[in-house]
Amino acid sequence: MNQDWTPPAPIPPKSGPGDWLRSLKTFRSQIEGLPERIFTQPAWRPPIPGTPFFVMAPELIEQVLLTQADSFTHGDLLPRMMRPAWGKGMFLAEGEAWRAQRQAAAPAFRAREIETLVHRFVAATEKMLERWLKQDGAEVERHGEMQRLTFEIIVDVLLSGGEGFDSDMMRRDVAGLFAEVNHIRASYILMPDSWHASRPPIRSEYRVRIMSHIRSLIRTRRSSPERGDLIDLLLKATDPQTGEALSDELLADNLLGFVVAGFMTTAVALTWTLWLATSHAPTRERLGRELAEVLGDQPLTAQSLGGLTFAGQVIKESLRLYPPAHTIARVSRDEAELGGYRIRPGQRIIVPIYAVHRHAAQWTSPHGFDPARFSPDQQVPQRFAFMPFGGGPRICIGLAFAMTEITSVPATLLRAIVIRIANGTEIWPQAGVVLYPRNGIRVRISAKI
Ligand code: HEM
Repeated sequence: MNQDWTPPAPIPPKSGPGDWLRSLKTFRSQIEGLPERIFTQPAWRPPIPGTPFFVMAPELIEQVLLTQADSFTHGDLLPRMMRPAWGKGMFLAEGEAWRAQRQAAAPAFRAREIETLVHRFVAATEKMLERWLKQDGAEVERHGEMQRLTFEIIVDVLLSGGEGFDSDMMRRDVAGLFAEVNHIRASYILMPDSWHASRPPIRSEYRVRIMSHIRSLIRTRRSSPERGDLIDLLLKATDPQTGEALSDELLADNLLGFVVAGFMTTAVALTWTLWLATSHAPTRERLGRELAEVLGDQPLTAQSLGGLTFAGQVIKESLRLYPPAHTIARVSRDEAELGGYRIRPGQRIIVPIYAVHRHAAQWTSPHGFDPARFSPDQQVPQRFAFMPFGGGPRICIGLAFAMTEITSVPATLLRAIVIRIANGTEIWPQAGVVLYPRNGIRVRISAKI
């Protein structure tokens, strides 16, 4: 494998008469069939009434997500689809209800709190490693394994290790809930708001079971001594403006929401990063050298993580090429103007993060894998040109959690084992709720001698 590598992904051909036929592919996967102009123009309005408006230029994205964020809200479609997973939690809340939850929960997700979790990320990874090494040389499906690992980590950290409930059953219930959320009902799109306002909420058996576990966990933790973990911080969380604590109901909605938002996204980020890091020989070798020099045979700590500069570059390049959250959607509440286009109230706006990260105006060789773009001697990308965690007031609250986890896990794995990809020719990104490898990624592993 040479230095220049363009990893597999849908790359649009020059625009032409075939665009319309190709655009049908977006029904299968939102990143397939996007026309070339989305990768080259600042904004684009498809010439079909009712279709969304695409925004790609960083200064226009800034307008939507930051400077005029109050005018570009989630609209109705997302809550209709996601309510079973999120209830009244922060992800779907708007206005004052959102602000109060966001500000109350923010201290629990600060970088300095997350640093204290490194040993738990490492311990969970070592446990998985032990299991893998028992099957030395056997094939492992890495994406499935990463989902299991990230689920275990988030349950360990956010739900007190799942005390009092069966973590495997919880994982099955969360997967069932996810499948329900993914099931797009025609009524979400076709029925008017008045119909949705008067209909009872969708009752998910999975959600009922999960919430009953989480509520009982909250009751137990409220009456037991503090342990100084993340859940203690969330139990103590108060709105800094009003001093009010989060109700148990809102806390439960948010805990489930953090699990849902946090485990699939980090699982795919880990899968893509490990695949890129092990498939590109120069990267693999340089990473190996960095891990040996910075960590030696010492345990991984928050401090040593900070010394893994090249690993950080590889992770950013992975998040650029395969952003787990590939699209952000908003709806314009008011009349607006974006890049010279008139936007009417109710217009759907799409920020196609996948295409923004591969935009010709922002990146040289946009589809090529090159961790050097993020090296400390390079200019940092323009704000909103690189945005795997979104931006503005609704930027991902789990950013520090996710970045610490997706650095700790590969560092722990790559210093201990050699990974070989078993299905390199089948790798292809597919857009679902997150951007995942369509055929999985199968690997063979062996211990480093
Ligand atoms: C690599 C991993 C992750 C990625 C790529 C990611 C990406 C994102 C993005 C792009 C948004 C903004 C959505 C929008 O503006 O519509 C977001 C929001 C959010 N994320 Fe993450 N996320 C990750 C991990 C996590 C984790 C670990 C947690 C919790 C533990 C989490 C919790 C949330 C929450 C609660 C929001 C909503 C924030 C709000 O509306 O104020 N995420 N995430």
